[in-house]
Amino acid sequence: MAKVLSILALLLAVGKFSEALDNGLVLTPPMGWLSWERFRCNTDCKNDPENCISERLFMEMAERMAKGGFKEAGYEYIISDDCWLNKSRDADGFLIPDPERFPNGIKFLSDYVHSLGLKFGIYEDIGTFTCGGFPGIAGHEKQDMQTFADWGVDYIKIDGCYKDPNTFPQVYPDVGRYINETGRPMVYSCEWPLYVNSNVTIPWVNISNTCNLWRGYGDVQDDYNSLVDIAEWYAENQDVLIPIAGPGRWNDPDMLIIGDFELSFDQQKTQMALWSVLAAPLLMSNDLRHLEPQFRRILLNRNVIAVSQDKLGIQGRRIVDSLKGNGVEVWVRPITPTAQTVDATVFSFAVLLWSRRDDGVPFAVSNPISAYGLTSKTGYFLRNLYTNQDYGFFRPTDVLTVRVNPSGVIFFKATPVIAG
Ligand SMILES: *[C@@H]1O[C@H](CO)[C@@H](O)[C@H](O)[C@H]1NC(C)=O
Ligand SMILES: *[C@@H]1O[C@H](CO)[C@@H](O)[C@H](O)[C@H]1NC(C)=O
Ligand SMILES: *[C@@H]1O[C@H](CO)[C@@H](O)[C@H](O)[C@H]1NC(C)=O
Ligand SMILES: *[C@@H]1O[C@H](CO)[C@@H](O)[C@H](O)[C@H]1NC(C)=O
Repeated sequence: MAKVLSILALLLAVGKFSEALDNGLVLTPPMGWLSWERFRCNTDCKNDPENCISERLFMEMAERMAKGGFKEAGYEYIISDDCWLNKSRDADGFLIPDPERFPNGIKFLSDYVHSLGLKFGIYEDIGTFTCGGFPGIAGHEKQDMQTFADWGVDYIKIDGCYKDPNTFPQVYPDVGRYINETGRPMVYSCEWPLYVNSNVTIPWVNISNTCNLWRGYGDVQDDYNSLVDIAEWYAENQDVLIPIAGPGRWNDPDMLIIGDFELSFDQQKTQMALWSVLAAPLLMSNDLRHLEPQFRRILLNRNVIAVSQDKLGIQGRRIVDSLKGNGVEVWVRPITPTAQTVDATVFSFAVLLWSRRDDGVPFAVSNPISAYGLTSKTGYFLRNLYTNQDYGFFRPTDVLTVRVNPSGVIFFKATPVIAG
């Protein structure tokens, strides 16, 4: 019982920070599309016009995202990553896009994205150069934030290459202030913690007061082991990371690679479920022009998106580590609806069983649901979020048996029943 209580206390340890960034944006994790993982720094429009970083690429992705159910499901931001810039500023010191790849300029592109009912995001870097070697904002911070506002940008990702990370506690808040002073609400995505030397204490609370989202760990790659690695880091650091997350402030474990080359069907469902439990941004990096229907269905799964976008904004937690158990991890996230008893609020939970096993057969997992933190005596209704299968009514001591595919998940929602 003491153990269950401590799990609950940790789950609910969501801090309140008076100095929080107050731009009213991303009260649930941002959803959209970001170019990096899938399209990288491909600037060769002569030989690869369909896939180079160009006006055409973002317009085509915006068109696909405005149709086919993505916009209706909540996907909203079309975001350029690195390599959109010209190699130098213009004669007056202003940032300009590469004139051949963005012949109509960024304002034209953002207007086009807005005309489709979507929002537009852009990338820069806090240092003298971007990671790809294009002009960074160092020395031009205020001017560049104003340029972005003038272009109608809605979301700014600021990378951390070519700058001493010891200056970050000064410059990232400065840039945040300049963004605010433009008067245009723009989401502020920071790479701040990612570049801090592991020997230096990371000022997590300051970061979460400064930015709407922040990358804590390395880039996602098109590889299942990359997902495992990222999830492991978020689990290992969860006592620090969960309390700083909440509406308007999110840990960012990087892009969704669903619809790309490497992940199996089950592994794609795993990423979608894990990211929704982590209250992570759902930023696809894939080719929406060539997306298999079964992958589209994962990205558009309303049950899973509802977990991601739950308005309480409480980041989920790994409560069972497979390495010490049977190879199946358990992650839980408190969500709505909640129920009120005389002395407590009873949460619904999204419960994720993730098999890290590789022994072929779907692995049978049998546990009383109390093992998943489902301890309300009046019991819960359980429903599988991917299959919509109703598991029925369970009291805490009732045993649920499910089978989890290798590297796959069982993802269900538990809704409390309060006896009248
Ligand atoms: C700027 O910050 C103030 C104070 O936190 C806030 O009220 C205002 O909405 C912000 N404006 C923008 C455009 O983000
Ligand atoms: C773009 O960058 C190139 C290479 O640095 C430079 O020669 C050119 O003048 C820049 N274009 C404009 C319009 O400033
Ligand atoms: C964090 O913020 C507090 C309060 O604004 C400030 O006093 C402190 O210097 C900051 N720490 C870092 C490392 O930026
Ligand atoms: C951290 O400190 C240790 C001991 O002083 C040192 O050997 C190591 O190189 C440092 N790590 C980094 C990334 O600077």
